Amino acid sequence: MSSTAPMRVASAQGDYTVEQYDDVDSLVDSLAAIPNAFFIVDELVADLYASSFQRLANRPMHRMPATEAEKTLHGIERGLLALQAAGGNKRTTVVGIGGGIVQDVSTLVAHLWYRGVDFVYVPTTLLAMADSCIGAKSAVNLGSFKNQIGTFQSPKRVLACDRFISTLTDEAVMSGYGEIVKLAIVESPEAVATVRADIERDGMRSNHVGKHVRMSLETKRRVIEIDEYEVGLRKTLNFGHTFGHALESTVDNEVPHGLAVVWGVDVAGYVASRLGQFDQSTYADLHEFLHRAFHMHVTRPYTALELVNAMRRDKKAVAGEVALILPHRIGELAIVPTPIDATLTGFIADYLATQDLFAA
Ligand SMILES: NC(=O)c1ccc[n+]([C@@H]2O[C@H](COP(=O)([O-])OP(=O)(O)OC[C@H]3O[C@@H](n4cnc5c(N)ncnc54)[C@H](O)[C@@H]3O)[C@@H](O)[C@H]2O)c1
Repeated sequence: MSSTAPMRVASAQGDYTVEQYDDVDSLVDSLAAIPNAFFIVDELVADLYASSFQRLANRPMHRMPATEAEKTLHGIERGLLALQAAGGNKRTTVVGIGGGIVQDVSTLVAHLWYRGVDFVYVPTTLLAMADSCIGAKSAVNLGSFKNQIGTFQSPKRVLACDRFISTLTDEAVMSGYGEIVKLAIVESPEAVATVRADIERDGMRSNHVGKHVRMSLETKRRVIEIDEYEVGLRKTLNFGHTFGHALESTVDNEVPHGLAVVWGVDVAGYVASRLGQFDQSTYADLHEFLHRAFHMHVTRPYTALELVNAMRRDKKAVAGEVALILPHRIGELAIVPTPIDATLTGFIADYLATQDLFAA
């Protein structure tokens, strides 16, 4: 294990720890010591780290593709059938190894098997290490609707290792940084300044990443320990998500989740500044950073009308209104009930015409 002390997260379902490992082999040694483990592994990760996972060769394992099509009831059923075929019982511990997709599917497999068995998670993407690995939320897609069904189920342990980042694509690293920057904005101007200075000086593949992951988890832990079941404060962690989910669904998931979130953060900043709720020069400064740090070429076109229609279908929209998370200051976000109307459509159209982070 690493010299960094494990982080303890308080949960109504039982406290759990995030343990940091210096290398993948010692992390896999810890996994090998878990009795009655059933492994659900991202098939790409299993291949990339085959020599490390050799230690688990005789243990029951279900390999799954990390696709949104597999993050469904079908993907869960395949995992459960593999667990059944492997002779799983009430003492089984389900161990998920992969990014957010494997996390969501394997959490629900653990939740449903015999009405719930222990779950251990190994995040292998930056997004999962810095954000989704704590907080106990899991959801899968139903029909054409993303993340529509799910549960709160906290893990017993999270085992993490920065080394997994080395095999991620640049786009996947940028996606992880989308959530890191979102959490820095939730935290404070100082947190944003630190992450911004590190990225602008050394890029996103630097030895600062461990520090950024830690900062992000500390912010998320602070929020979920107050409001684990998202009754109030935790909603602010959905900053950027309403616009981001609309983009993801409009371009059929061509944009990775964390990049969609940071795009949504920029749109939310723009809308808040147009509403007079967020200082214009603070927004302009934030936008300049986001524009330099995050970019991608989106091949599918998207219009304000399509985005707004997608927002109407969002699970958080009720009676033509959506609770937007808007910045009032860096480190101070507000939940603002907002009609999905011509005014909002106009703001989004203006954003696309003048500010779009992903414009060519
Ligand atoms: N449950 C939550 O709290 C939560 C939070 C945020 C996002 N999510 C969900 O997570 C999903 C996105 O997850 P993600 O961005 O972590 O990634 P992912 O699981 O979608 O994986 C992205 C790609 O990276 C590959 N990959 C994973 N680890 C790798 C590694 N170490 N090296 C090389 N390639 C690797 C995967 O095979 C896949 O091709 C979305 O479905 C989103 O809705 C869930």
